[in-house]
Amino acid sequence: MLEEAWHYLGTRAASPAARRLGYVREAAALETRHRRCRDAWQPHIQATRAALLTSADRLETAGGTALIVGGGIARDLPLADLLTRFQQVVLLDIVFSRATRRLARRWPGRVGCCYWDVTGTVEWLAERRRIPPDVLVSRPSHPELSAKPAWVASVNCLMQLPLMPIAWLAASGAAEQHLEAFGQRLVEAHLDWLTAWQVPCCLITEVCDTTYDATGQRLSGNDYQPLLARLPATASLAAQWEWSISPPGESAGGGSDSLNVEVWEF
Ligand SMILES: C[S@@+](CC[C@H](N)C(=O)[O-])C[C@H]1O[C@@H](n2cnc3c(N)ncnc32)[C@H](O)[C@@H]1O
Repeated sequence: MLEEAWHYLGTRAASPAARRLGYVREAAALETRHRRCRDAWQPHIQATRAALLTSADRLETAGGTALIVGGGIARDLPLADLLTRFQQVVLLDIVFSRATRRLARRWPGRVGCCYWDVTGTVEWLAERRRIPPDVLVSRPSHPELSAKPAWVASVNCLMQLPLMPIAWLAASGAAEQHLEAFGQRLVEAHLDWLTAWQVPCCLITEVCDTTYDATGQRLSGNDYQPLLARLPATASLAAQWEWSISPPGESAGGGSDSLNVEVWEF
């Protein structure tokens, strides 16, 4: 509890609206979870870092700017290694933890924190608490950067994008199927947002989740793969692995949860 409060106090948000929707609280919870689940998450963190470096190495020329979406808690990023390939790394997120801001300060002028709501809906939601019109959801804008990025990576955040908006709207009385459709539109819009940069992109995302009981028996699961139909036809699967996100002992009842993660390049 104290640890989470410490992270909460040290986290900065893009706007009061982001704080209101709970992104700071969520980031603080994720930081503490990183410590609690360190051993179980290590293979996923290593695989994420390796996938990013492999993707960056595929670029024809080194240098320029790398833009990394979901970099507010940079525990899964190989920042020092990326800086041997790029002149500048811009981390984009709606919140930044104390540890990430401190990490960025190690490379003044080379690592930047871009506070940005990648869905473009958070301000609107905080004011109105109802599902935004599709014209807003479908066209989130790009931040103005000092240079167009040479490479864009979206790291373990795609399926997180609907979570806080839907939790916020749950109190609005919106019908479940409308909330689900809104969440899908946020995911699709992010894929369009990435493609619109018109530079090589690396997408690292969970594509399904599975819940097991204490005996290891599968209880339930969700498949998000159909949402990736939105990826450009040229997208290729570069890697995949399983992430033990809630190892036995983490959730009540002794069960566990795992995610299947995929890396797509386009
Ligand atoms: C699961 S974390 C990514 C993994 C994280 N880099 C780590 O080391 O564990 C998801 C990230 O997406 C960010 N995020 C969620 N919604 C966002 C939004 N609307 N705009 C920008 N970032 C968002 C969260 O703040 C969070 O940092």
